[in-house]
Amino acid sequence: MNRLSVSYLVLCFLFLTFLGFGSIHIETLQLGPKLAKAEDSTKHTHTTHNNKCKPTRPDMLGPFYVPNAPERTSVGKGHILSGVVRSSADCSPIAGTRIEFWLVGPHGRYDYDHRATLFSDKMGAYKFESNFPPPYARRPSHIHIKVTVKGYRTLITQYYPAKGQTEGKFDLVLIPEDREDIFD
Ligand SMILES: [Fe+2]
Repeated sequence: MNRLSVSYLVLCFLFLTFLGFGSIHIETLQLGPKLAKAEDSTKHTHTTHNNKCKPTRPDMLGPFYVPNAPERTSVGKGHILSGVVRSSADCSPIAGTRIEFWLVGPHGRYDYDHRATLFSDKMGAYKFESNFPPPYARRPSHIHIKVTVKGYRTLITQYYPAKGQTEGKFDLVLIPEDREDIFD
């Protein structure tokens, strides 16, 4: 084999090596986004599942809570709040939870007429009708909620409807007494 043939073979080898490297590199580039997308969708599914069962974030009780509000599902017209009471352990609905609501009336003050107690039904669902709570004292519109049921930690939270909203969905996810769930 003369020197020219050796050089030719070396060049061919280098060329083929380059092509091989290039094709692997291109495949990686092409697969990259697909893999990234697959990871993203897994993440998304995981996050969605977690969000559904994530304990509802507590919020301040405020100075206007009064126990033993009358049992009623409506204290006015203009806004309907509904949702399902669930367990953070497995997302299962919780029937018979005691849910207390209090909010300012259309006049912007707390009073007896704008308090209610109701109970989640067999499917864990609840529905509460009220006026749209106007903002007051530099606070955004909100509805106070307290949820109590045996075997779970009491939840005290608030729901914040957007301006002009006539209905809202708000699942109330409770933490079993024997669990140490984290909110974030
Ligand atoms: Fe308040």
